[in-house]
Amino acid sequence: MKLLIIGSGGREHAVGKKLLEDPQVTAVFCAKGNAGMLKDGIKILDIAEDAHQDLIAFAKKEVIDWTFVGPEIPLLNGIVDDFQTAGLKIFGPNQAAAMIEGSKEFAKELMTEMKIPTAAYQTFSDFEAAKAYVLEQGAPIVVKADGLAAGKGVVVAETVEEAIEALHEMLEEQKFGSSSARVVIEEFLVGEEFSLLAFVDGEHVYPMVIAQDHKRAFDFDRGPNTGGMGAYSPVPQISEAMVEQAVQKVLHPTVQGMIQRGTPYHGILYAGLIATAQGPKVIEFNARFGDPETQVVLPRLESSLAQVISKLIAHEKPEIKWNNQASVGVVVAAEGYPEVYQKGMLLPEMTNEDVSVIYAGVAEKEGQLVANGGRVFLVEAHAETIEAAQQKVYQALESVALDQLFYRKDIGSKALKN
Ligand code: AMP
Ligand code: GLY
Repeated sequence: MKLLIIGSGGREHAVGKKLLEDPQVTAVFCAKGNAGMLKDGIKILDIAEDAHQDLIAFAKKEVIDWTFVGPEIPLLNGIVDDFQTAGLKIFGPNQAAAMIEGSKEFAKELMTEMKIPTAAYQTFSDFEAAKAYVLEQGAPIVVKADGLAAGKGVVVAETVEEAIEALHEMLEEQKFGSSSARVVIEEFLVGEEFSLLAFVDGEHVYPMVIAQDHKRAFDFDRGPNTGGMGAYSPVPQISEAMVEQAVQKVLHPTVQGMIQRGTPYHGILYAGLIATAQGPKVIEFNARFGDPETQVVLPRLESSLAQVISKLIAHEKPEIKWNNQASVGVVVAAEGYPEVYQKGMLLPEMTNEDVSVIYAGVAEKEGQLVANGGRVFLVEAHAETIEAAQQKVYQALESVALDQLFYRKDIGSKALKN
């Protein structure tokens, strides 16, 4: 099998590495990929993610069996529709189905229709009406840009003033352009967060093991929100009953609702959930694998990812087995991220065999890897327990010199307090 991945980050590196574990997979190409992927045998292509026709021409010329899409932007740009029109196999939701991530209002309407538990909300495009609603509801309250905003369009406001300031920036100053021309204002949910992902073939749902992301930049969940500073799986403080409720009350009705709307969902479905006292409630849907959740979920997949996706594309039942290991992944980021940061720092050689290194914001310079983005790489280890996996990761990180880079020291620690 020859496969193509669209994307360039850590998630795509982890997917490519997992696909290559299957001896039937003879080549994995990634567009555009990153230079760190070469270490694991992934071939990188200099074709832009939005150059759909060039990607299609490449897939035809190389006789690619199927393509996997990592990020949301190509999905929302209709890459799946374009590949299918060209007669090529591709795994991911089409443009209409990817709206589950592309518009918070779309997701909220679907949840209302299907009675899927989520925070109470209202949608606004008028600043004065939105402000009146916030004044009536009080704080804490959550303000979300309707469209995509690279994880930055969510403000968890502790005070009414903060919420009104967020509304002013989004609706009046158009901080996120057309993405924030409409906002969703929602109830603040109290409870622990977890990410539940599933493989979906349009009809059937195959849940994965759950993970927990760490969105804040600094230890003890302090500092600004980021794309994710680390993750771990399993999440023992979330009960099996809670996960089962989420599968039954969230994943299944979501997939049914998409069928009823005439936009059946194919691909990876990601539910971001809060375990509240009333059970799991949705805070967001993504139309793709999570980053960095993927980097800790895939090491727990015993079955061949390539076989699983091949079966899903063929609409056959895949065999999916998970191991009982614990996986911890710690992101190494450029100092200053998620705000202003340097690039070009030389990265250490990580030779420790206890860990995997998954690259994201990197480039090659004179034969060596240098930092080229905010989240630079992730170090993952798995072991019998979260504590043992954590130890492996942190030992590996402490043994190398990191120039103008930082990482959180507490990834996975929430699981140990219980
Ligand atoms: P999102 O980009 O939608 O994942 O939101 C970013 C972060 O804001 C989430 O990881 C949560 O920690 C928090 N958040 C979002 N929605 C809510 C909510 N309704 N109640 C409490 N926290 C929320
Ligand atoms: N880790 C959160 C996301 O991928 O959206």
